[in-house]
Amino acid sequence: MSKIIVFTDLHILPIGKTIIGLDPYARLAAGIDHATKIHPDADRIVCTGDLTHRGDADSYLRLAELLDRTHIPVSLLIGNHDSRETFLSCFPDVSVDPNGFVQSVLDVGDWRLVFLDTLNAPPYEFPETYSGYLCPARLEWLQGQLREAGDRPVLLFLHHPPHDIGFPGMDAIKLKNGPALYDVIGRFNCVKHLVAGHVHRTISGSHRGVPFNIFKSPCHQMPMNMDSMDVSLSVDEPAAYGILLTTPTGVLAHSEDYEIAIADVGTSHEALGAGAAAE
Ligand SMILES: [Fe+2]
Repeated sequence: MSKIIVFTDLHILPIGKTIIGLDPYARLAAGIDHATKIHPDADRIVCTGDLTHRGDADSYLRLAELLDRTHIPVSLLIGNHDSRETFLSCFPDVSVDPNGFVQSVLDVGDWRLVFLDTLNAPPYEFPETYSGYLCPARLEWLQGQLREAGDRPVLLFLHHPPHDIGFPGMDAIKLKNGPALYDVIGRFNCVKHLVAGHVHRTISGSHRGVPFNIFKSPCHQMPMNMDSMDVSLSVDEPAAYGILLTTPTGVLAHSEDYEIAIADVGTSHEALGAGAAAE
C-alpha cells in the first residue's frame, strides 16, 4: 500500500497579500507541517494546480521555499491560475513531456501516477483560459503512457474536472474536451481512478465508470451553492488536504480538515465511559 497526500489550489501570493482575508502561504505551511508530522511515511505529495494565484515568480519562489520544509517528495501540476513559463523558470527540474507541457509519469509501488497539464494557455486570455483543455499533442502523449502502462493500474491527476460536478459556474469552466480524454481512457483498461482540483470542495463520484475525487483547498473554499454562476464565490471553511491509499485492488480516499483535526490527540469513547466507539 502506498500513501499519497494531495494538496490542490494553493493560490500562493506575494508576502502580505490575502484572499478573502486568508493568507494562502500560512494556510499551506500549516498543512505541509501537519501532513509531514502525521504522515511521515507518505510516499508523495501531489499538488494538483493553481499553485499560485497570479502566476508570478515571487509566489512560485515562496512556494519552492515552503516545500523545502518537508522530507516528502513533491510533484507539481499547474492550473488556470498558473503561468507555465514562469512556473518552469522557477522550478527548472520539473519533468515536462517532449512538447514542453508539464506532464509526467511516476511509478509509486504497484501504481503508475500520470500527471496532466490542462492549462489552456498561452495566450492567457481570461475568462477563456479559466477552463481547461487537452490539445491533441497532450492527448497523444497520454495515449502513449497508457499503452505503455499495460496491466499496471493508473491513477490520473489533472487540475480541471473533465466532467460536470454539479456547480453550474464551475461546470462552465471545466475541462473543455473531457469526452476526448475519456475516449483515450476507454481505449485501455488501466485507468482506475482520477483526481482533480479547481473546485475547492470535497467531491467524489464516478464518470463513464472511472471513480474520481476532488479535494478542498488549503486556503479558500467554494460555498455549497448549486445555483450560482459566480465562480469567484469563496468562503472561509476549514482548510484540507486529501490522503490517497493505493491498494492491490483500488484506491481509498480520505479528506483531512487539518486546521480542526485532533486525530493525533483524540480521546477514546471507552476512556470517557461512553461505550463503544463509532465504527
Ligand atoms: Fe483554484
